[in-house]
Amino acid sequence: MPGTVIVGTQWGDEGKGRFTDYLAKESSLVVRYQGGHNAGHTLVVDGVVFALQLVPSGVLYEHVTPVIGNGVVVDPAVLVEELDMLEHKGVDTSRVLLSGNAHLIMPYHQELDRVTERFLGKNRLGTTKRGIGPAYADKALRVGLRVQDLLDPKIFREKLELALREKNGVLAKVYNRLPLDADEIVERYLGLVPRLEPHIADTVHLVHEALDAGQHVLFEGAQATYLDLDHGTYPFVTSSNPIAGGVCTGAGVGPRAIDRVIGVVKAYVTRVGSGPFPTELPEGDPVGEVLVARGNEFGTNTGRRRRPGWLDAVMLRHAVALNTCSELAITKLDVLSGLDEVKVCVAYEGEDGARYEHVPYHQSVLHKVRPVYETLPGWHREIDDAAQLGDLPLEARNYVRFLEDAAGVPVTFVSVGPSREQTVVLPRAA
Ligand code: IMP
Repeated sequence: MPGTVIVGTQWGDEGKGRFTDYLAKESSLVVRYQGGHNAGHTLVVDGVVFALQLVPSGVLYEHVTPVIGNGVVVDPAVLVEELDMLEHKGVDTSRVLLSGNAHLIMPYHQELDRVTERFLGKNRLGTTKRGIGPAYADKALRVGLRVQDLLDPKIFREKLELALREKNGVLAKVYNRLPLDADEIVERYLGLVPRLEPHIADTVHLVHEALDAGQHVLFEGAQATYLDLDHGTYPFVTSSNPIAGGVCTGAGVGPRAIDRVIGVVKAYVTRVGSGPFPTELPEGDPVGEVLVARGNEFGTNTGRRRRPGWLDAVMLRHAVALNTCSELAITKLDVLSGLDEVKVCVAYEGEDGARYEHVPYHQSVLHKVRPVYETLPGWHREIDDAAQLGDLPLEARNYVRFLEDAAGVPVTFVSVGPSREQTVVLPRAA
């Protein structure tokens, strides 16, 4: 069963898109299985920058069918805008498919995301305010509207009016906001149907057909392991399951459909939004400033500055276990060039002096741990033109080996620059 998953091992923004793009070359389907337009993938191809939020990265290859699976939450206006942008840049989007079972992000989801964040004050999650959490909440409450509802205007209106009765009550009575108008929403959403209808499909069936025919299917995760609703740093997480197991529900396959799981690890760590981050460098720390500046660590989507820190091997080991990673892909190794030394967190020390080799399950402990670092020598030479492992300075190779040993799985790819070509493929990445 040639199913491969690409999953982030940190808090997102590891640079997964470039490996999806790389592996899409050999795939017939590239499937998004969770999240929504809270994600942002930037691809640079022949100097042209493509910023994608919903459409899977494989869209840039003519032989790939990009699939937005049932586990994704979709703002249809954003999808249409993205399809138009791609067409404008000369990319054929006719093959993009959208699951009829995917849930819709509605205007009240975005409004509720905004007002609840404001309401939480200093306890806010730092969401992308795209309506992701409220849309998944409605899915679980069984009051969500799905893509297929767009194809039946009567049903769409019925479900919308039912939902609005409660949402408008909450918006007006709890948050003192103006109620939303059903007619306006119906007009706006159904107005998009002619543009979307050709893309709506039974994507689960298509994925099964491809797998049965022995074709290669790539499952593209958005966000990452520590933003997972069940396994991340709850409540500072997203509302879906980015871990490899999320593929099963979000794309409609069983675990045996997956035979390769590539964990993407940025050579250091960043996080946007609130929540614990053991290896975070304090604001103003010179190394943190270098990481943000050299790594251009600002959200593709929201423009927010990402919080920087050293790589955390404790979290990495746990991520490898949670996802059963068969291998790792390291990104942005070039950003570390020029540092005298490079640190990796190998354990945590609790408030009481206890040493933790594993991520402590209790958030009160995790919030207060101190990282125990191992310090490795840095390298000064720029590495952005490295084509193979042997082109990297010894210190950079040692860093890669160190991560491999810490994680217990091989590293198969290393990226040394933003462009598609700046990818070192290690011989074992058969
Ligand atoms: P939400 O997904 O918009 O509900 O946001 C929940 C948390 O996930 C916030 O801390 C966001 O900053 C974070 N988040 C969501 N999407 C991404 C992403 O693509 N990269 C990094 N962080 C993300």
